[in-house]
Amino acid sequence: MRKPVIAIDGYSSTGKSSISKILAERLGLIHMDTGALYRGITYYSLQCCADAQGNINFEKVFDNLKNISLEFRKTGDILTLFLDGEDISQQIRTKEVSDHVSQIACQKEVRAFLLDTQRAIAAQGGVILDGRDIGTVVLPNADYKFFLTASIEERTKRRFLELQNMGVEISAEEVSHNLTTRDKIDSEREIAPLRQAEDAILIDNSNMSKDETIAAIISHIAEF
Ligand code: DC
Repeated sequence: MRKPVIAIDGYSSTGKSSISKILAERLGLIHMDTGALYRGITYYSLQCCADAQGNINFEKVFDNLKNISLEFRKTGDILTLFLDGEDISQQIRTKEVSDHVSQIACQKEVRAFLLDTQRAIAAQGGVILDGRDIGTVVLPNADYKFFLTASIEERTKRRFLELQNMGVEISAEEVSHNLTTRDKIDSEREIAPLRQAEDAILIDNSNMSKDETIAAIISHIAEF
């Protein structure tokens, strides 16, 4: 039987990626964190197309897109992101990248550039893609669509703990500000804004553990 294609969208720090990763392991599917692609372009832009203050020269980024290689490489069922042959999975998680990624994600040239990469992976079936526009734009015909949300207080707590564990010094106020700003830019952008697809199942996991969220998602998925 054909394995399903699952789209998981939602707000920042609702646990989309970690939940998708565990789900993929349990269901024997491949997980693609599409936010990593936008982070990859942001990392590249800050390295190669920005001044010392971090102001990105977007025209330069667009011109260079055709010359860069940003790809997921597969080890078993794990996809790791490489930029021009370098594993950049750690570099894309910095605060600097988080602070700039929404500026990059609202550029139509960037979104068009990343569309093929995402659809090519999904074409094989048996995948979970998590992001912001998977159910609405990237894979409107996905077999299952979920949209995750949670209160800003809960999301701030989760992201703050995650950053603390990474040894990043940051206040809860700063984390909350970053999340709110990002969600605002992502939801209000013209192209592929963050929103729930009409046929997506909404899950508010403010008061749910990761396992409970996973169980809720699995309860909607038929055996395959
Ligand atoms: O999931 P994340 O926080 O790693 O995503 C980083 C940014 O990338 C997020 O602020 C919005 C953008 N993004 C997007 O616009 N579309 C996607 N499918 C995934 C992420």
